Amino acid sequence: MVKFDPNWYNKFVQSTNEKDLLVNKISDILAGKPHKSCLEIGLGTSPYFAQKLSQNFVRYLVVECRIVEELLPSDIELLNDDWENVQLGEKFDVIIASHVIYYFKNKKSATEKIFSALNNGGRVIFVMNGKESDYGLLKSFFSKLVNEPYKFTYDELLEILKEREIKEYTLPSEIRFSSFDELFDTLRLSFDNYPNEYQKLKPQIIEYFKKNIRGGKFIIDQKIIEIQK
Ligand SMILES: C[S@@+](CC[C@H](N)C(=O)[O-])C[C@H]1O[C@@H](n2cnc3c(N)ncnc32)[C@H](O)[C@@H]1O
Repeated sequence: MVKFDPNWYNKFVQSTNEKDLLVNKISDILAGKPHKSCLEIGLGTSPYFAQKLSQNFVRYLVVECRIVEELLPSDIELLNDDWENVQLGEKFDVIIASHVIYYFKNKKSATEKIFSALNNGGRVIFVMNGKESDYGLLKSFFSKLVNEPYKFTYDELLEILKEREIKEYTLPSEIRFSSFDELFDTLRLSFDNYPNEYQKLKPQIIEYFKKNIRGGKFIIDQKIIEIQK
């Protein structure tokens, strides 16, 4: 089971332009389209999306399974619960599931539940890491080191969505770092399904960075999948 670590997440978020890119793109996607209510699944540690997007909605609900100690703006409702278990009994015009799919125990049924909670004509926005660029190559390298085939969540989600009409956007985001040691720490979040192996394999991973990562930037392709019901 993959466990979300808020400290690793905070370290990651401080080092990337990813959240700004995503919020701006999601705002563009939703602009001019009628919507009253939004459900966001998986907050993280700060309302990056809600802060900017909530003003466009009458109701903005976040479902987050960890205990949230951070203060949220008053127009954002928080439901402390697990998406895979919660019973909502209402539907939404927009559902945002950003970088949360990795953590679902049953990705297929959690995704189907998202479509059940969507009003007809409503939109769901999924966000996850793509499998190209530096991120994809590092994941493939790591999977060889641990001798296990790696299944990208991107591929798993596309398989689940194969009967649906999707729109896909790719936004390359950058991780900044001043040393490969720092980059290694920043990327710990992306290996939260193999925390011990990641730490143990640090020398090999640092060697990989030295050979393959140029220009002080590590690129992750952000994949946004938009689907209208
Ligand atoms: C990597 S963070 C992503 C946060 C934010 N959406 C973003 O894109 O930066 C994943 C968040 O999803 C939450 N989460 C994981 N599984 C969940 C579930 N089954 N139901 C609700 N929240 C979940 C974690 O606790 C964490 O806050």
